[in-house]
Amino acid sequence: MGRVQDKVAIVTGAASNPGLGYTTALTLGREGAKVVATDVDAAGAERCAQAVRDADGQALGLRQDVTSEVEWNDVIQRTLNAYGCLDVLVNNAGIAVLKRLEDMTLADWKRQIEVNLTSVFLGCKYALAPMRAAGGGSIVNLSSVAGLVGMATCTAYGAAKGGVRIMSKSIAVEGAADNIRCNSVHPGVIWTNMQAQATGLSKPQPVAPERVPMGRMGEPQDIANCVLYLASDESNYVSGAEFTVDAGMTTQ
Ligand SMILES: NC(=O)c1ccc[n+]([C@@H]2O[C@H](COP(=O)([O-])OP(=O)(O)OC[C@H]3O[C@@H](n4cnc5c(N)ncnc54)[C@H](O)[C@@H]3O)[C@@H](O)[C@H]2O)c1
Repeated sequence: MGRVQDKVAIVTGAASNPGLGYTTALTLGREGAKVVATDVDAAGAERCAQAVRDADGQALGLRQDVTSEVEWNDVIQRTLNAYGCLDVLVNNAGIAVLKRLEDMTLADWKRQIEVNLTSVFLGCKYALAPMRAAGGGSIVNLSSVAGLVGMATCTAYGAAKGGVRIMSKSIAVEGAADNIRCNSVHPGVIWTNMQAQATGLSKPQPVAPERVPMGRMGEPQDIANCVLYLASDESNYVSGAEFTVDAGMTTQ
């Protein structure tokens, strides 16, 4: 038996490889979940679903823009049509608009908040009814270390991710009576396409220990393992918590 055997899980932002959503979808699929992998990149979402199926799992790939309320309704409905219920939602899709405050336009700010915060609000809002009908569920929201501490160029990104952190705690309180748990995950420096774009690097590099005490970037699997735990019944008594997966970055 897998650790999330027969659970139905939606993972957003699942197209990017290397990426946290892609590896999370694959990990949940390998552990027995029926996965709905979504992304604004439809072909990439389908590639992720195919990778789960190639690993003998069950998966559906769907195009979804997480900022669209209509598309959230559609994805939830198609999930219920395909697999009958919803047990797990991983709000992973995100973008990083990294600019110093004075260079950031109002349009940059609005786009960052819309994709990284409003999307999570919509996903959680529409997941509650099917999770209640299923007798409970687990929502895992991808925040960031930038949602915990201040960082240059992260005014908008950090505001969105800090919003995800505290929103997750409120949802944990509201969902508790229905056995719906909600937690946030705070990755540090993890090697993905987003990280490659942000750093301009073509492969993972050592990181100064003053920044990351363990001196290296993490791998997507490091985050997927944490999400797997939160999606599974092993974390049945865990809700409203924040999981920092950053090799000690925010300890100093
Ligand atoms: N990689 C890191 O170091 C790191 C650190 C902290 C937090 N995070 C967070 O983890 C999550 C995943 O990051 P990643 O590094 O895998 O990024 P990534 O850029 O590699 O993948 C993000 C995915 O989200 C999708 N996406 C973007 N906008 C979308 C939209 N409007 N609708 C649907 N899908 C959309 C992209 O197409 C892409 O497939 C993000 O929320 C990110 O902020 C990442």
